[in-house]
Amino acid sequence: MAPPPVARQLRADDLSRVAEIEAGVFSDPWSKRSFEEMLAQDTVHGFAVDGEDGLLIGYGVCSVVADEGEILNLAVEPGARGRGVGTALIAVMLDWLRARGSGRVFLEVRSSNEAAIGVYRKAGFVPLGTRRSYYRHPREDALTMTLDLAFGDARK
Ligand SMILES: CC(C)(COP(=O)(O)OP(=O)(O)OC[C@H]1O[C@@H](n2cnc3c(N)ncnc32)[C@H](O)[C@@H]1OP(=O)(O)O)[C@@H](O)C(=O)NCCC(=O)NCCS
Repeated sequence: MAPPPVARQLRADDLSRVAEIEAGVFSDPWSKRSFEEMLAQDTVHGFAVDGEDGLLIGYGVCSVVADEGEILNLAVEPGARGRGVGTALIAVMLDWLRARGSGRVFLEVRSSNEAAIGVYRKAGFVPLGTRRSYYRHPREDALTMTLDLAFGDARK
């Protein structure tokens, strides 16, 4: 059986590979420059998972403002899905947010994105509401989800 995925900190030299996955996964992707600018902020942090050959296969980016955390981005290369990589990335982001004083974590997800909604539900997130026409390319509602770190983290 394959060992469980292990997440590490995202580094500057990962960002070309991250932007490559991002462009293949999202219809409205962040550029490499967007990742650089986001990660330059002290309130933002990124994590990565590498495949067996050492090539990055997944990443997540989160932020904290006061006591509120947010998951800003999460993606796993299509060929590496369904093996717990997304779950491992969410877990390490929640640990980082908790250590930074977050009591509650929020995120937005396309309302049709069943895989992402499934992975977030498994981590303990619950639906909070809908933001009408929040996304472009194509236009779509966002489902807002939240997790109370004191009570809701499914791993605790
Ligand atoms: C969402 C995503 C990150 C999940 O990554 P992953 O590594 O495949 O997720 P995991 O293997 O950890 O799956 C964990 C759980 O999520 C749920 N899940 C995963 N894929 C699913 C799917 N296609 N449909 C429904 N539920 C799914 C399941 O509950 C799964 O648990 P299980 O394996 O015990 O059934 C990945 O599908 C992805 O990169 N999608 C495109 C980018 C994206 O949508 N990002 C989120 C933006 S908000």
